[in-house]
Amino acid sequence: MRIVGINSSPRKQRSRTLKLVEAVLEGGKTRGADTELIEVCSLNIQYCIGCQVCCAEGRCVHEDDFAALLDAMVHADGVVFGSPVYMYGVSAQLKAVIDRMEEPVYRQVLAGKYGCSVVTAGSAGYEGVLRYLNCMLNQLGALTVGGLAVRLDENIEALEGARSEAFTLGQTLAEAIRTNRRYPDQDRTIEKNRDRIRRFITANKESWPHIYELWVEKGWM
Ligand SMILES: Cc1cc2nc3c(=O)[nH]c(=O)nc-3n(C[C@H](O)[C@H](O)[C@H](O)COP(=O)(O)O)c2cc1C
Repeated sequence: MRIVGINSSPRKQRSRTLKLVEAVLEGGKTRGADTELIEVCSLNIQYCIGCQVCCAEGRCVHEDDFAALLDAMVHADGVVFGSPVYMYGVSAQLKAVIDRMEEPVYRQVLAGKYGCSVVTAGSAGYEGVLRYLNCMLNQLGALTVGGLAVRLDENIEALEGARSEAFTLGQTLAEAIRTNRRYPDQDRTIEKNRDRIRRFITANKESWPHIYELWVEKGWM
């Protein structure tokens, strides 16, 4: 079992989000997971330019670190998104990664996998960012086991409490993977997303053949 944690704070070792992503991975380890931490800010990730070459040809026009990052996610059983709240939103670094995922969403690259998200903030906007990140995991096809969105201010004790919750979240993630836990509400959400994507892919089947063929192969069409 493999869990990948993705931290998107640029503050390196000073990052409070990093501490929570690490705690999730530690929790996962105690339940048998191999873990990998990826620091988005140490990667070269270009902005999506909306050309949709990815949908047409299955390759991105940018030659940067995105393909390797996606590969790490696809080869994991669990994915953890971590972001600080920046101006009531996700960090720009993680948003740049997510914007590159149009074609991976159509391919439902995280179908059958699990995920969770951790978010830290000074004082506001954290719940919306957590909802957004877990929504994106669902969009990619993964079931989410929960998440943690914390208001830390300058409060060291709050960070300690959050670390212990993050540790438990990691254990829950690993257990969900091990037992193939079901989340019926999310199964319905993912099925609804697929209905929408199915229509889109069918309408574009001549121009996006690799995606259409994958859907036929998976029995989703
Ligand atoms: C550019 C910027 C924007 C921020 N915007 C918000 C915000 O909208 N709401 C909030 O509560 N905290 C905000 N913060 C505070 C961070 O979310 C908070 O300190 C977070 O824990 C930083 O995470 P890190 O230590 O992992 O980098 C902002 C910080 C920065 C640098």
